[in-house]
This record gives sequence, C-alpha cells and structure tokens, in this order.
Amino acid sequence: MRPLVSLEFFAKDTLKAVQRRDAVIAIDVLRCCSTIVTALANGAEGVIPTKTVNEARRLHKKHPELILAGERRGIKPRGFDLGNSPLEFSPQAIGGKRIIFTTTSGTKAIVFSQKTKWVLIGALLNAEAVAKAALKIAEKERLGISLVLSGREGKHFSLEDFLCAGLIVESLPTDTVELSDAALGSWLAYQQSRGSLYETIQKGYHAQYLKSIGFGEDVRFCSQVNVFDIVPICTNGTIIPLDLNLL
Ligand code: MLT
Repeated sequence: MRPLVSLEFFAKDTLKAVQRRDAVIAIDVLRCCSTIVTALANGAEGVIPTKTVNEARRLHKKHPELILAGERRGIKPRGFDLGNSPLEFSPQAIGGKRIIFTTTSGTKAIVFSQKTKWVLIGALLNAEAVAKAALKIAEKERLGISLVLSGREGKHFSLEDFLCAGLIVESLPTDTVELSDAALGSWLAYQQSRGSLYETIQKGYHAQYLKSIGFGEDVRFCSQVNVFDIVPICTNGTIIPLDLNLL
C-alpha cells in the first residue's frame, strides 16, 4: 500500500497526525523551521525546542553554556543571545553549540508532534531532502506522512507554509504516494507560484509583518528552494541532523 500524504493546516491539529501515527513533517517557512535547518547546516550540534519563553529561560539557567534563542512578535526576547533570524545563525555564532529555541508557533508545533516517533523539520530550504527522507521512513515503517503547517500564531492559515507543503509533495514521485485533497491542493498552489515564489510569499501577512520590523532579508533567504540537504529530526527533545545512511 502506498503511504497516504495528509496535510494539517494548524499546529493545534498536530494531534490528528499523532493519532494516525504518521511520520510528521513540521513546516514553518517564516521563520522557525528555516532557522533550524540553517543552524544545523551551519554546524550547530542540536536545537532544543521549548513552548514558552519562561521554559527556555529556566532551561538556560540550568545550562548557561547553551545558546538561548528565539522570538516573540518576531523580536528577540530580553536577555536572549540570538533572535529567530536565520541570518544570525552563522557558523561563527553557533558552530558546535547547542541552542535552546522558542518561537511563537513553530517550536510549539514541533513540541506537540513529539508524541509521534518521527518528527522531521521542513522548509523550502530543505524541501526535497525532507520529502525523500519521509518517504523512505514511511515505506520502511508502513506509515502515512503528515505535513503539519504551523500557521501564523498556530491558528491562522499561512500561505508560505502551504506552498512549502506543495513543493514537498512535488518532490515525492507521484506513483509512490496517495495524496489527500489538501495535500493535492498545496501542490496545485505551488505549481501556480513556482516561477514567482518569493514575490508570492512576500505578499503574505507574516512576510509583510517581518518586513515592517526590519526582517525583509529573512523573507528572501527563507524563500530559497532546496539549498540544504540537511534533514532535522526531533528525538528525545532535541533536534539533530538525521543520519540519512541509517534509513
Ligand atoms: C513562529 O514560530 O511563529 C515564527 O518563526 C515567527 C517568526 O517569524 O519569528
């Protein structure tokens, strides 16, 4: 039987994917998942997602050697080392280090998904790599695949996440999977915008907001397609690069 690819529009619906026991790809293009992919590609040892700023601060108090990073309303919280701009996560800043990370919706979606065994992190930056890894896992373990969009603030539809889901669907050979209507819809939307992806994403609510607070360059960076081969996986509360040779 071919794996069924489902799509959930909001982080709060992660539970549905967990109940199906699907392999989850958590998607947050602007900017949480793009930042995690970039951090690991630039040599971070691991990323520890937390739901709240207080949780992150408490953990950092216990482990002050770790980097404390994240955002609320797009801005670095008081006392944090780094915000949520992928451009801040250079090899010099985070190479060889572990990062405690909290964002408005992305890290919540990841933490909620942890009840299922396979939680991969997807963005436009690593869409093809994460699609291929998820397919291998789904075939080997006889699972479905759930694309879980974190959405804005976990509850509003997010255009860039939907388009990213579409690119992931496109990267799965059509004869290897079944698509839910929502997954098929994301693919159709991606096909429509592939030639003008950055321009399309730029029109979205969160891209406009990020631009208004000075993070327009992040939108451009996060709109790049298949720049990294890295597939982040969340296991035992930490996100690390998946060893693709083990699949
Ligand atoms: C989030 O997780 O809500 C986003 O990454 C917000 C942001 O762009 O900083």
